[in-house]
Order: sequence, then C-alpha cells, then structure tokens
Amino acid sequence: MSLFNVYPLNPIAITKAAGSRVWDDKGQEYLDMYGGHAVISIGHTHPHWVKRIEDQLHAIAFYSNSVIMPIQSQLADAINTISGKKDFQLFLCNSGAEANENALKLASFHTGRKKIIAFKKAFHGRTSLAVAVTDNPSIVAPVNETDNIIFLPLNDIAALQTCFAEQGDQIAAVIIEGIQGVAGIYEASDAFLQAIRKACDDYGAVYIADSVQCGYGRTGQFFAHDHAGVNADIYSMAKGMGNGFPIGGILIAPHIQAKFGMLGTTFGGNPLACAAALAVIEVMQKEQLIQTAKTNGDYLIQALKQIQGIKEVRGRGLMIGFEMDPSLQDIRKTLLNDFMVFTGEAKPNVIRLLPSLAITKNDIDLFLKRLQDAIALLQQKTI
Ligand SMILES: Cc1ncc(COP(=O)(O)O)c(C=O)c1O
Repeated sequence: MSLFNVYPLNPIAITKAAGSRVWDDKGQEYLDMYGGHAVISIGHTHPHWVKRIEDQLHAIAFYSNSVIMPIQSQLADAINTISGKKDFQLFLCNSGAEANENALKLASFHTGRKKIIAFKKAFHGRTSLAVAVTDNPSIVAPVNETDNIIFLPLNDIAALQTCFAEQGDQIAAVIIEGIQGVAGIYEASDAFLQAIRKACDDYGAVYIADSVQCGYGRTGQFFAHDHAGVNADIYSMAKGMGNGFPIGGILIAPHIQAKFGMLGTTFGGNPLACAAALAVIEVMQKEQLIQTAKTNGDYLIQALKQIQGIKEVRGRGLMIGFEMDPSLQDIRKTLLNDFMVFTGEAKPNVIRLLPSLAITKNDIDLFLKRLQDAIALLQQKTI
C-alpha cells in the first residue's frame, strides 16, 4: 500500500537523532536548525526524556479519562509553575489543531456567541474550526467554509477597534499567534496584543493565544504573548510540549468554567504523553532553557543581521525568520544538500530557524559558517 501523497518530501530518510543532530540511513550527519518544525524543545532523544517515557511504559501506558490519573495533575502543577499562569486550568489533547479547536469551541460555549476574529496570514491547524480561522483558502475544504470568521490585518489596532465597535456583541473570541510562524515569522506588536486584551475585556470576548509554535519557552518567555505584559484567557500549546511525543493542551483562565461533557478526548492526557511533557519541563528548568533560548537567540539574530545577502531578520529567541535576496532563493536546498543543515521555509524567500532550545553556541556558530559558505557557493554559481 502506498502512503497518501500529501507531503512534498526531501529525498532523505532520517533514522537517528541526538541533541541538535540527525542522521540518515546512510550514516550522514545533519545539523538540525528546524527542530522537526519547532517540535524539538529539549533536544532529540534527551536521556531524561527517554528514561521517563521508558519508566512510564513499565507502569501504565494508557487508561481512559474516566478515572483519576495523578500524572495529569502533576503536569498541570508543573505547567502552572513554569508558565506563571497560577490559577489557570489545563485540558489535555493530542495536537496543535486540536488545542485550537477546543479553545475556539470553549470560547463559543462560554460566550454563547459565534463570531471569531483571526488575522491575515494566520495558521492555526487543519481541523474544521482551526482551518476556518487559518488564512489559506487552498487548505479550507468547502465544508469548513463559514461566515463566522472575520480576518483582520495583523497589528492594525484601528481595524480591530472598528470591528469590535460594529460587531462586539457577536464576537466569541480573538485568536492570534504571538509570532506568526507558517506565515514567515511576523510578530504581533505588544501594543496590538494589549489592544486585543482591552477589546476582549470591554466586549466580553475570549482572547486565545495560539502558542502552539511560539510558546513553550521558544522566544525567551514561556509564552510569546508574555512579552506584551498581558494575560490571554486561553493559551493553546503543542509542538515543544512533548519534544516529539504527541501532546497538546489548553491553559484556561479561572473565570471560564468547566461543565461535564463540554470537551473530551480518548487519548488526550494519557500517562505516556504526560510523562514526556513532564520530562520536557524538568529539563527546561534544570538546564534553564528559556533563558538560553533568549541569550542564544539574541546572539544568532545579531549575527544574521551582519551577513550580506540577508535582507531582513525577524523574530525573537529561537523563533527566527530571515528574508533572502531573490538571487539566493535556492539557499535552503543548498544548505540541506551541500552543507547538511535542515532549516524551515516560508514562501517565497524566508528561511525559518526553529532549533532545539538546547542548541549550543558552537552549533550556532557552525550553522553561521555553513550559511555563509552556502551563500558564497550560490553567488559563485550566478557569476
Ligand atoms: C501556530 C500554529 N497553530 C497550530 C498548528 C497546528 O498544529 P498541529 O500540526 O499539531 O495540529 C501549527 C502547526 O504548525 C502552528 O504553527
């Protein structure tokens, strides 16, 4: 049976990984500046993460959400502590789309309203509501199309205020990435996030902080939205949460109340996923990875700004995008095929860096060297 052919694949079979390195089936080593799409937070196959999952496997891998699972409460306490969102509640699921789906549904239950404000170029996932608030018509199936979504320009405070003034009594939620990832690394400004907070307070709407990609310490704060100094009502999380073990969740402010049956899932919050997520937090705390993401991210951003051929550098911490001169549009392929470096991209010319938060300064320097060599090679070819 063939695989359903939806992914344009690099012709490389990755079979082994450790830290910020991966190896293919022929033993070739690669530097991973992509982190499997922002998923690898503490480093591939971190020994503490492996051991905690292994130990959990011997105890219990799964039971349904019909019984008390103490490890879920341990995880909730650990997230409360590391995020500083002390009185928030935790609902666990399995992926980023599912986290946003639940966040949007909860906002609608809570307010009794139907309309959602989302932003141009946003990406929130591929399930029905998550894809409806995603600004990419090519992945929205006819059945997912709805008039309930209002797309506004990012960072346009006047447009946000006008929309609330006209339809505020119908708006259930505003959903926004602290830094838009798939779009090509565009930051929501602090003033914009503060304006969203105020509008949601004034009109009784729910502020949903999609932190699936920009959260979990990647930007040097636990949530990218924290840089603006405001709290959201719901934070969605996934990617870095399990370091590759599938897990997602939403953090829910205390004023939003649960009702039996309102949300639910079979696999969400299973003990194995919780063990993986606890291991991630333990390593983040022990190795001070949020601080490292900031320091190493600042260093990398500054260094990228000095490189000729790079037009613009955007982002915070270890969520970085840089725009290449159009003559260097093959840089990502060249980095991968000639210099053994995985990076991400956003069309047409943005390279995205989403490495493990544990990447060393030596590996960052190695990346910078290979990037400069790749640029030189491409420049030689165009002469
Ligand atoms: C900001 C954001 N939200 C949601 C998602 C969807 O997450 P998942 O692929 O785990 O469903 C992604 C995935 O890239 C994302 O970047």
